[in-house]
Amino acid sequence: MAASFELFAACQPGLEFLLSRELQALGAEPRSLPGGVAFQGDAALVMRAGLWLGTASHVMLRLGQFPCRALGELQRKAAQLPWRTWLRGSVPLDVRATTKASRIYHTDAAAERVGNAIAEALGTVPPVARPGDEQVARVHVRFRDDVCTLSLDSTGTPLHRRGYRLEGAKAPLREDLAHALVLASGWQPGTALLDPFCGSGTIAIEAAGLALGLAPGRLRPAPLQHLALFDQTAWRAAQALPAPTTAPAPIHAGDRDAGAIAAARANAERAGVADAIEFHEVAIAAQPWLQPGAAPERGALVTNPPFGLRVQKGDRLLPLYQTLGHRAARLGASWRVAILAHDVRLARRTGLMLQAAFTTRHGGLAVTALCGTAEARPARQTPAPDAGE
Ligand SMILES: C[S@@+](CC[C@H](N)C(=O)[O-])C[C@H]1O[C@@H](n2cnc3c(N)ncnc32)[C@H](O)[C@@H]1O
Repeated sequence: MAASFELFAACQPGLEFLLSRELQALGAEPRSLPGGVAFQGDAALVMRAGLWLGTASHVMLRLGQFPCRALGELQRKAAQLPWRTWLRGSVPLDVRATTKASRIYHTDAAAERVGNAIAEALGTVPPVARPGDEQVARVHVRFRDDVCTLSLDSTGTPLHRRGYRLEGAKAPLREDLAHALVLASGWQPGTALLDPFCGSGTIAIEAAGLALGLAPGRLRPAPLQHLALFDQTAWRAAQALPAPTTAPAPIHAGDRDAGAIAAARANAERAGVADAIEFHEVAIAAQPWLQPGAAPERGALVTNPPFGLRVQKGDRLLPLYQTLGHRAARLGASWRVAILAHDVRLARRTGLMLQAAFTTRHGGLAVTALCGTAEARPARQTPAPDAGE
């Protein structure tokens, strides 16, 4: 029987509930914790998770845990672990340590001792990982209250770096955050989706991947590929999971900036979803689906308008948010809306029926996903201009 590990999928704080749902869909029994989700499984599940999770940034395997108060003890106990079943001696090794409230406080010494233990167990000294190495065995040593936990990072480059977004636009959204916004919006893949402020196209590209049944990690190297834990049969099974659908997904992405549209198109090409997205170089006021009666019957408007700090400043954006609200209300109650906002009060000035779905951080700013239906809020619920949020 394949070895089972304690696993931890890390995510941006605030996204845990979405990640938990994704893991459930992969057959795991998730337990949400701050900053991620714990679950249990074998190397096959690690591969499935690395390939299919859209909101995670790393998947870690716990290799061992033991009480430890001295460096000699650390090396001796670590060398007893079955490193040969996990790692390969030819793959560069990177050991990192953190310690808190423990007799072993010297992180470099702890990392060195674990490196020695691994070399002893493998019968060879693995090369030291250098910056830029693509394939690295990354082992984390964590001391808390004299208990040492050893974990393996199955991910390497964070999972949100999908590999398609080489062309940036102003203030691009992280791919995992765009994915989370699409999931939180309540959009049903196969129905219409519109991002009228698409920038480099991240939201539309993540949605198109969902609509076509494509794995978020499809352009990345296979998880664990360079380690002894890798299992070719399990990897093939992971890739085959849901049958990709070829059903047309009506997705529109607009931006008034020609450079943004060019970048979004190039990113969508690389992601293999360009045929599923229609790009429009157009300002929100002229967005085709936001003209009276022009939109498909059902869908979701999912967007990340200029924040007011990174792109433009403060109150000057009020007319833009009011236009967004006015145009979006034309879509009606059969459309969902999700707006990622830094200034929640400004986003409320759209006048739409919106509720906070999650709050996280993006580029050093607190951002909130406001979700609801594309209907104007009844007048009596409109908050006073200075209502605090
Ligand atoms: C925060 S960025 C969107 C970033 C995008 N989510 C991404 O991942 O790259 C906001 C975008 O809104 C566009 N924009 C600003 N005012 C607009 C308007 N009136 N109509 C359409 N697009 C506009 C900007 O050109 C910018 O690309």
